[in-house]
Amino acid sequence: MPGVQASESQAEIVAGWVRALSVHRKYGVLADTTLADILGRELALHRSASGALKAAKRRLHRVLSDYLVDGAPARLQALLDAAVVDPSADAYRSVCATILDSHASTRERQPFVAEFYQRLFAVTGAPHVVYDLAAGLNPFARLWMGLPDGCRYFAFDNNKDFVTLASTYFVAAGFDPSPVWQDILTTPPLTPAGVAFLFKMYHCLETRRSGAAHDVIRRTPAAWLAVSFPTRNLHGRPAPIYAHKGARLEAFVAQQGWPSTTLEFPNEVVVLIDKRGAAR
Ligand SMILES: C[S@@+](CC[C@H](N)C(=O)[O-])C[C@H]1O[C@@H](n2cnc3c(N)ncnc32)[C@H](O)[C@@H]1O
Repeated sequence: MPGVQASESQAEIVAGWVRALSVHRKYGVLADTTLADILGRELALHRSASGALKAAKRRLHRVLSDYLVDGAPARLQALLDAAVVDPSADAYRSVCATILDSHASTRERQPFVAEFYQRLFAVTGAPHVVYDLAAGLNPFARLWMGLPDGCRYFAFDNNKDFVTLASTYFVAAGFDPSPVWQDILTTPPLTPAGVAFLFKMYHCLETRRSGAAHDVIRRTPAAWLAVSFPTRNLHGRPAPIYAHKGARLEAFVAQQGWPSTTLEFPNEVVVLIDKRGAAR
């Protein structure tokens, strides 16, 4: 890590740290804008640069450890590479199901995955463009989403390992466009979409910074936002996340004057926010 000169501006300090961390074995998987955002915020909060860097690394560690999959991305990549050798639909379905099973967020949705998207699109209407914000492994559920012909599905994630994994699959399966390495908080997509998924991310964004989830919902240029909450924790026990955060979201949505509908599934609640009346 380069030393910090007293004369360096905060922007220069952050830029130097980003350069160093972007090639770091652990933090380098995160998008540069994620690094810059977290480093910059900590630098503004701390008296000393070294204290800020330490605090930022703790926060970055937290961001990464929130999304550990059972089996590192490298093992999943090997599974996928083996399936690519035999790209029959069946081989893909089975490898996708295995990969979806390796993270609680997607595993929990698997038993009712097709019904999940059917009910969602029954409310929003069939979209021409879908954004999957902070998608994680969810692009591997693409075969079960029932997307209408010609629908463009864009997945975004700020962790390069997940994006690389899903891109291998998309390229081999002939799906276009491939998932994008992008932080949806610092760098929202710009062009309009029909539906944007923000699944099981509200509370994670709020942990990164209070108000972040509302900023994402406000800035994402989609007619509908589908914001979901898990109703069980990672051990399968009831978790009161929706009870705690749902009311805050509903108050925000009401304040914006957006109508909303709630769909309940066995372990997930989806709030569908209709932003069509809003200036997007
Ligand atoms: C809980 S997991 C995936 C959840 C997924 N939406 C689902 O329900 O299946 C969270 C994912 O969000 C990604 N992520 C977290 N913060 C992000 C951000 N600000 N921008 C883009 N991706 C983010 C992580 O890298 C991780 O892959």
